[in-house]
Amino acid sequence: MKKVTYITQKEEAKTASASSGNLMELAIANNIEGIEGDCGGVCSCATCHIHLTPEDFETVGGPGEIEEEMLELEDNVSPYSRLACQVPISSLPEQITVKVAN
Ligand code: FES
Repeated sequence: MKKVTYITQKEEAKTASASSGNLMELAIANNIEGIEGDCGGVCSCATCHIHLTPEDFETVGGPGEIEEEMLELEDNVSPYSRLACQVPISSLPEQITVKVAN
């Protein structure tokens, strides 16, 4: 089980656990504000935009080509931005804190 703490734009923290799926699915299952997952996780809506810490970004890895193109259209983009639907739970360290970008 990986533990994920989501910090919303209102600075509210909510922790959830999962051993499979991705960061978008886990957020939706736990009603995390700011993660909509409109496209169902096929990397075409960017309503699951999150920011990782530089350290976690190093561990998890950067965005793929299509994901990067989607992120270029986003306002609140950082060098450590990812789309949560493209981050499998299996790629995470045991514990991680992510910031919801929207
Ligand atoms: S849910 Fe649409 S891009 Fe992630």
